Amino acid sequence: MDSMTNHEAVLVVDDDPQASLMMTELVISCGFQCMAVNCKDAAMGIIEKQHFDIVIADIETMESLHLISDVRKIQSDIPFVVVTGYDDDFTYESIITAGANDFIKKPFTTTELNSKLYRILKERRLAFDNSQLLAKQIASNKKISNLLEIALDLTAEVEFANLFPLIISRVTEIMNAERTSLYLIDWDRNEIWTTVAEKIEYFSLPIGEGISGFVAKTGETVNTADAWELPYFKREFDLQQNFRTKTVLCMPINNRSGGRIAVIQVINKQGGGVFNDDDENLLKSLASQMAIAIENAQLIDELKLSFESSMRTLSATVDARHHLTAGHSERVMEYSLMIARSMGIGPEERELIKYAGLLHDIGKIGTKDAVLLKSGQFTAVERMEMELHAVRTKEILDNFHFSKALSQVPFIASHHHERFDGSGYPDRLRGEDIPLCARILAVADVFDALTSARDYPKYTETETMSYDPMPLPKVLRILESGAGNQFDPAVAAAFLGCMADVLLKYRGEHFPPAYVDETIKILRRA
Ligand SMILES: [Fe+2]
Ligand SMILES: [Fe+2]
Repeated sequence: MDSMTNHEAVLVVDDDPQASLMMTELVISCGFQCMAVNCKDAAMGIIEKQHFDIVIADIETMESLHLISDVRKIQSDIPFVVVTGYDDDFTYESIITAGANDFIKKPFTTTELNSKLYRILKERRLAFDNSQLLAKQIASNKKISNLLEIALDLTAEVEFANLFPLIISRVTEIMNAERTSLYLIDWDRNEIWTTVAEKIEYFSLPIGEGISGFVAKTGETVNTADAWELPYFKREFDLQQNFRTKTVLCMPINNRSGGRIAVIQVINKQGGGVFNDDDENLLKSLASQMAIAIENAQLIDELKLSFESSMRTLSATVDARHHLTAGHSERVMEYSLMIARSMGIGPEERELIKYAGLLHDIGKIGTKDAVLLKSGQFTAVERMEMELHAVRTKEILDNFHFSKALSQVPFIASHHHERFDGSGYPDRLRGEDIPLCARILAVADVFDALTSARDYPKYTETETMSYDPMPLPKVLRILESGAGNQFDPAVAAAFLGCMADVLLKYRGEHFPPAYVDETIKILRRA
């Protein structure tokens, strides 16, 4: 016999008090705990209230074998041993078919009983261990597949602003924690910072302060059962937020060359207990995925910044050829974006508008000085030369490499002088044949020309006006009357709708305050 410890409880069911007592004594002598009842109902009643590891029932008739299935309705996996003296009525097969694990014929010996109980309980333990192992294996498979899924999600996210909340929510979930914070290390400023630690908007700390600051400084992993016991933990932070930081697992995030770039901190393991070795290993695997994702996003951010600053510089260079057009392209871009937002245009198209707005007049690089810098009305030839800038914009921009998402920029930018009624240039496009983004640029472009000083007189069909910015009420009338012929009426209406915001954006800069305030009063009255 092996050395199993017998804490298992056995329930004896027998209606013969004498036999029941004998069986109970035998079971106890085999080293088990034992309880006896004298009928089926009593057996059912006690099993509902108490746990047993095995039932030994004295059965006299085939009908009584129902006890097995009835008991299993309460405890589905409980082993069952049938004892009977009526061996003529039963076969081993009939009893096993009824669901019993074994069969003991009276009379029997202690050794026989003992060996049968041990065998059944040993099988039960093995089955239990197997199911535990299986559950562990399933949990570990789930962790691996979660990890792979997170790795894919993280590397697919290149927007820095989205990456922070993505990492935080996925780590909180997979680590089964209450909160997660992600800090980036800024070695130049000697601080760690975060944009969205869950429920905290922006936060920075000197390197060395707090748990994350300590990990940033030392590169060591901190795994504690109670953060409040660490000398470098800042309790005031918890007190301010009415939060209790208890268990913490905090580790550095290193890049491929081993440089520390960030710190991940997981707070309060759900369901109690401390973060164990499995948790540490899991977070370590996640940390290397996070490092790749953070570095990718940083790289793309830098590329975008460098692209955008090149575009802005280029656009400003063109505007700077003439002192009166300084800032024109930037303002056209801003006005166009305001129109786009008020029309509910999505972020992808707004990116197109942004770069098409900045670059719409880049073709003026090729316009002769004599025309570009001329003060006064153009001759017909000069006007043709001036109008060529739209085609030149396309030619220049076609030589740029734009990403797929921005590939429409040259087409849009070069059509900012098309008119809704088809009388514009360079292609005399009409109505919705003109890309919506270009219809927006057209309104913004005319508005900026009218509201800026120019060295040619502004005029309408009936009157010639001064070189100065046109009075705003008149500009508004031009926009209104141009809707449907020069401008897309929906775009003109959207622009008029956000006019107050447009004016306030440049109040005191491009627009004199009085110019803005008077118009806003008029707009409010209307
Ligand atoms: Fe233009
Ligand atoms: Fe322009």
